Amino acid sequence: MSEPLLEVKGLVKHFTLNGDLVSRIAGKTQTVKAVDGVSFYIHQGETLGLVGESGCGKSTTGRLITRLIEPTAGDINLRGEDMLAFSPKRMRETRKDVQLVFQDPYSSLNPRKTIMDILSRPLEVHNLADNWHEKRERVLELLNLVGMGSEHIDRYPHEFSGGQRQRIAIARALSVTPDLVIGDEPVSALDVSIQAQILNLLRELQEKFSLTYLFIAHDLAVIRHISDRVAVMYVGKIVESGPVETIFNEPLHPYTKALLAAVPEADPKKPPPRLTLEGEVATPIDPPPGCRLNGRCPLATSICGEVEPPLLEVATNHQVACHNL
Ligand SMILES: Nc1ncnc2c1ncn2[C@@H]1O[C@H](COP(=O)(O)OP(=O)(O)O)[C@@H](O)[C@H]1O
Ligand code: SF4
Ligand SMILES: [Mg+2]
Repeated sequence: MSEPLLEVKGLVKHFTLNGDLVSRIAGKTQTVKAVDGVSFYIHQGETLGLVGESGCGKSTTGRLITRLIEPTAGDINLRGEDMLAFSPKRMRETRKDVQLVFQDPYSSLNPRKTIMDILSRPLEVHNLADNWHEKRERVLELLNLVGMGSEHIDRYPHEFSGGQRQRIAIARALSVTPDLVIGDEPVSALDVSIQAQILNLLRELQEKFSLTYLFIAHDLAVIRHISDRVAVMYVGKIVESGPVETIFNEPLHPYTKALLAAVPEADPKKPPPRLTLEGEVATPIDPPPGCRLNGRCPLATSICGEVEPPLLEVATNHQVACHNL
């Protein structure tokens, strides 16, 4: 297969808590290992679903890829090129190629600006339209793309429903013709019926423009609906990744099995393997050595508390990080 559009290797983001001098001298600093050695790839036109419980590092991963925050370590390659080595000028040009859509469009859409203002701003920033007429034409075209009529162009964000606002946020992301769109829980705040409409819209736009998606969500039903492949994250690590049907029908990692056990059965005749974990999600603050599921996992053996399991290929495109499969 051709080179991936995006390839992330050994991505790390550690946050230091209590990093002030007094705490450092007293030895009281703590490290949040929010993202701790994450690797994955996404091919052009593909959707990778990144799933895991709240706090496992999904949003941090997305923000690292957009370079809203800088990684502690690791590589981010876009079309085979090392994005972290880009000059500031090159990075400014590349910013438009990777767009982020957030969960809550209301907080990312300026309430005092009209839809025309909001959607034409990126065109101005990236010099994509020469004059007012060109901008207006392009904004109307964008509204049409996301299924909204031209009558909305001079309205303000508060005049729209949550689903419509998310359509506007999607239009804004598409205004600069990106290659990669990162959706960070883009449908999580919407009613289920509206979620389906937005997911279908994202699919349509993907086909039309050969878009590549990194789709972040904690909701397994949403991930199943939209993804071609899925990466499952637990406390800063990817524990399993593979084609969507493999992950949902034949999961191998104990954490994936436990996640699936918490959702209603899709096909009762073919129940996927299930498993129950003990206790609560581990914390990413100064985690102990070994597997992060150790202490909760019924399959754990002595090695699990000592050695971190590497993410290994167990079948074509199917990777799992566990000592005891
Ligand atoms: N700026 C920050 N400073 C300290 N800790 C952070 C910061 N951003 C995120 N974290 C922590 O990193 C972990 C992962 O957060 P996040 O990426 O938002 O997870 P998710 O999106 O999966 O819910 C959490 O424990 C969170 O509290
Ligand atoms: S490595 Fe050990 S603790 Fe971790 S998931 Fe596998 S069996 Fe469980
Ligand atoms: Mg998040």
